[in-house]
Amino acid sequence: MTMSFNHTSVLLQESIDSLHIQPGGVYMDGTAGGGGHCAAILEHLGSAGKLICVDQDPAALEVLAQRFVGVPNIKIIHNNFSNIKTIISGLSEWGVTRLDGLLLDIGVSSYQLDTAQRGFSYHADAPLDMRMSGEGMSARDVVNTYSEQELSAVIFRYGEEKFARSIAAGIVRARQSAPIETTGELVEIIKASMPAAAKRGAHPARRTFQAIRIEVNRELEVLEKALDDALPCMNEGGVISVITFHSLEDRLVKNKFREWAQGCTCPKDFPVCVCGKKPRVKVCKVLSPSPAEIENNNRSRSARLRSAIKCAE
Ligand SMILES: C[S@@+](CC[C@H](N)C(=O)[O-])C[C@H]1O[C@@H](n2cnc3c(N)ncnc32)[C@H](O)[C@@H]1O
Repeated sequence: MTMSFNHTSVLLQESIDSLHIQPGGVYMDGTAGGGGHCAAILEHLGSAGKLICVDQDPAALEVLAQRFVGVPNIKIIHNNFSNIKTIISGLSEWGVTRLDGLLLDIGVSSYQLDTAQRGFSYHADAPLDMRMSGEGMSARDVVNTYSEQELSAVIFRYGEEKFARSIAAGIVRARQSAPIETTGELVEIIKASMPAAAKRGAHPARRTFQAIRIEVNRELEVLEKALDDALPCMNEGGVISVITFHSLEDRLVKNKFREWAQGCTCPKDFPVCVCGKKPRVKVCKVLSPSPAEIENNNRSRSARLRSAIKCAE
């Protein structure tokens, strides 16, 4: 039986166009999820082209294995995309040493968000988990073991939440009587820690849940490592395309691409370059979903697509 994996791929056409797929090229989808982007990449690949699908969630792996059963030019790999170097070095027997394109569609899938027992959603009451990989530290561990200062820093930094201090204090107070076990309990603590006016508009737990999820999955750390390790793995002309869903990730990608694109840094009055710095990439225009896409899929509204094309080394 095919497992149902509800996820509408975001910026699908734009991201496929950004990769400039060559029929015989080697591509990696580092966040394969339900395989929506993978299927679109495959449509452009000829029989000599290769696609590597990576995901850290065992549930996604199961779906991918079913969806692409019998497809010869695909490898499905259970790993964190931050291990890109190791993943590629394990593929030399398959003839892969470098990539022509890498796609990262960061964050959680709708399938993960909508599966209540994964504990990502503030709309359902479920055990506090939020681990995409199902391994390691969970949201329950963060909420029950971090100090008040650590919680406040996480909620402020990754959630950009104005009421981080008071929410952290509320969490510490609540857990003194018993550990906080569920998303529902956490939502109630967050609501009780915020002034009434701040609870109008977007869901009051949105920012705190985002922050804890980022902390649990080390999302910014793994993204930065993946980008740093990916660039040397790309062929000349290879494209790195990243779809992000919030400003912290988008800023990280923007700054990284900007740093890579920087050429000579010698003072303007130097007659010749002494720094020897050359741009490592050419940065493409940032893209956002069209109004039609946002209307069809509200979750796409905050998405941004950034791409960089590797220059000659
Ligand atoms: C937004 S979904 C991708 C959806 C996919 N592009 C599609 O069209 O179906 C993100 C997926 O990336 C995975 N993921 C997120 N961070 C990851 C990481 N660091 N390493 C590997 N997989 C990751 C998640 O488990 C999730 O399945």
